[in-house]
Amino acid sequence: MAKERLKSPRARLFVALDLPDDLREGIVVWGREALTDLALRPVAPESLHITLSFLGYRPEKEIERIAAAVEESAGPAPWVEMRDAEQRPPRGRARVFALPAISPGAGSLQAGLEQRLVEEGFYEPEKRPFWPHVTVARVRPEARGSRRPAVVSEPPGPLPPELSEPRIAVRMTLYRSVLQPTGARYVPLAQVELPG
Ligand code: 2AM
Repeated sequence: MAKERLKSPRARLFVALDLPDDLREGIVVWGREALTDLALRPVAPESLHITLSFLGYRPEKEIERIAAAVEESAGPAPWVEMRDAEQRPPRGRARVFALPAISPGAGSLQAGLEQRLVEEGFYEPEKRPFWPHVTVARVRPEARGSRRPAVVSEPPGPLPPELSEPRIAVRMTLYRSVLQPTGARYVPLAQVELPG
């Protein structure tokens, strides 16, 4: 208890590339038919994004400096092209379904951001390569309290072709993830417009 009280307040933080509005709306409309299996919990429209960097819990007092580092690593607004939903992990029971994004520009932005956050001591780089994607649904547990995901008998079908056309993503956001029994809520803390 005493140790808990001594800890400074912490925030669960991540940086994401926000989706262009028409793409986000298109994914929501597609999801109304594609993500109807009862085992799926579709991601809320306002929570659809491409994560660039997940920082985990950081002291709240670092937020201002992290926001400055995010702002300083802004690069050109990248093109993104969405592809059909894939399950993760790729084999066995799915835990999530995500739309992969083809986007070399998002890769460059992520690399610059990561370098900056590492230099400033806010982040330890992940060992696995960056996989740009939009998580569209998580799979509910097969039973209350179980860690095993339920079986998804109707996985999401393909995207309509217009959703796979390239679009420019013009905003990067530092989010706080607030964990709640009903799922995480993402609160924007700082936003950076990316130059075209
Ligand atoms: P996901 O969509 O692939 O689950 C907030 O949790 C955001 O950070 C989510 O978009 C999530 O990606 C991403 N994220 C990346 N690594 C994470 C981790 N180790 N734990 C939780 N979220 C992570």
